[in-house]
Amino acid sequence: MFLKGKYCVILSGIALAILVYLAGTFLIPAKQSTVFFVSSFGFLALLTLILVISSPLLVRLKNNSLTRFLLVQQRWIGLFAFFFAATHVSLVYNFFFGWDFLKPLSLPNSTFLILGAVAFLFLALMAATSNDFAIRVLGRNWKRLQYVIYAALALVFVHAYNVGLFYFPNRLVPWVLAALVVIVLALKWNIVKIPGSREKA
Ligand code: HEM
Repeated sequence: MFLKGKYCVILSGIALAILVYLAGTFLIPAKQSTVFFVSSFGFLALLTLILVISSPLLVRLKNNSLTRFLLVQQRWIGLFAFFFAATHVSLVYNFFFGWDFLKPLSLPNSTFLILGAVAFLFLALMAATSNDFAIRVLGRNWKRLQYVIYAALALVFVHAYNVGLFYFPNRLVPWVLAALVVIVLALKWNIVKIPGSREKA
C-alpha cells in the first residue's frame, strides 16, 4: 500500500469531507446545500460508527489486508466518527441555531435534539479516552466504556429518524441501516452463527 496506517485513515477522512464540500457546492441546488452539508456530516458520522462496530466481524467473514487494516485502525476510524459528528454539530449551531447553545431546548423537537447531544457526549468521552494513557489508567473499565458506542448508535438512530431533513426522510435509509446493524450485532455476538466459525468478535 502506498500510504500506511493512521495516515491512510486521516487522508481518507479528509478526502470524504472534501467530497461532501464539492458535492454540496457543485451538484446540489444552492437552496438545499446548507441542509446537505449539515446532514451529510451527521450521516457520515453514523456510517463511520457502523464501520467501527463491524470491523472485528469483517475480519471473521473475510480475513484479508483490507479487513485487517480496518480492525487495526479502529481507534483512528472511531476518532473520525467523532470528527464528522463534531462538524455536524458545529454546522447545526452555525446555520440553524446562531450559536445559541440552549436553542435546542426551546424547539418543538427538543427531545430528539437532546438525544443527539447525549450521543455526542458519549462519542466525545470515547474520543477523549482513545489513547494509551487512558487505556492504562482505566484498566478493565476501558473495555466496559467501549460499550457506550452501542448506546450512542441507538440514540443517533432515534435522533436522525425524527429530525433528519435530507437522507432519513427517505424511510428506506433508516430501515436498511437498522437492518444492517441488527445483522452485524447478531453475527458479532454469535446470536446467529457464521458457518465454520467458533470465535467471538
Ligand atoms: C448537539 C448534538 C446534535 C445536534 C444539536 C444535532 C442536530 C441535528 C439537526 C438539527 C438535524 C436536522 C438537520 C439535518 O438533517 O441535518 C440533525 C440530523 C441528523 N443528525 Fe444530528 N445533531 C446532534 C448530534 C448528532 C450526532 C452525534 C450524530 C451522529 C453521530 C448525528 C447524526 C445525525 C444524522 C444522521 C441526521 C440525519 C441526516 C439526514 O438524514 O438528513 N447528530 N441533527
